[in-house]
Amino acid sequence: MTPSRAIIRAARARLSRALFAAAMKGYKRLMNTPTSPVRPPEQRPPWDTLLPIPRSLASERHPLIVGHRGARGLAPENTLPAFEVAAELDIDGVEFDVQRTADGVLVVFHDDTVDRTTTGTGTLADLTLEQVRALDAGARFDGRFAGTRVPTLREALEYLKTTRLLLFIELKDPWRFPGMEQQCVDLVRELGLGPRTQFRSFYHDALHTLYRIAPEIAISELWDDRLPADDEVTFKTVDAPHQLLTPHNIRHMQARGQQVTAWTVNDLERARTLAGAGIDGLCTDYPDRLLALFG
Ligand code: G3P
Ligand code: CA
Repeated sequence: MTPSRAIIRAARARLSRALFAAAMKGYKRLMNTPTSPVRPPEQRPPWDTLLPIPRSLASERHPLIVGHRGARGLAPENTLPAFEVAAELDIDGVEFDVQRTADGVLVVFHDDTVDRTTTGTGTLADLTLEQVRALDAGARFDGRFAGTRVPTLREALEYLKTTRLLLFIELKDPWRFPGMEQQCVDLVRELGLGPRTQFRSFYHDALHTLYRIAPEIAISELWDDRLPADDEVTFKTVDAPHQLLTPHNIRHMQARGQQVTAWTVNDLERARTLAGAGIDGLCTDYPDRLLALFG
């Protein structure tokens, strides 16, 4: 590549990262999403007590291949069939989202409302478990999955315990569900899944709560509109949208002792670039594609 081409390419990439970050910021403002500011150093967990990503039970692969919301390109997101697909592929792990019903039961679900992924309407947090369980969470994805239900977290964990998958559990909007951190920890501990779990959230106050109540379980900080600066380093894994990552900033974060994972990487060329940069994990809707690439 000629030097001028390389300069244009780098400028384009920088612009696209800046546009992505601005769009994310705008979206959060529009949705009125609360943020929790990075805590001062004296309030951060002692670095030596923090755990890295658990080791894969399935492979020595680097980067780890993690199915996003189970494997949402291949089966209805955040459902048992999606976890079954991931287990059959024998990838390294699954990422999934947790929220709580109006009557206090943790369920595996992504959106605020049930409208997009189920046959119902309304805000998930306003529905009882019985109402949520009456919904079909598979038919909209494909008629073959009709009759699939929204799983409770317990159900999901009981199934996942029978597999070799690592569990990347995202606490979705925990400010709306006071006490959900303890509920998640209790279930993970009861089923003995702590050693293969990593908790994660965009709302970092919840991560500090998780660390306080369950320091034996790994934690990842999620970022969406920017990456943490050197004086903000708090947890040992940074999970960020792949659009913000470059070989340079990946290596920089790793050099300061953090592991780096990316969401949601469905493009093989992009996966190859990130893997070449040494990224630790790739979260994808299509784990079958990444598996074909990395084996
Ligand atoms: O790991 C973070 C990633 O899952 C965030 O994206 O799909 O929950 O909106 P999403
Ligand atoms: Ca998620």
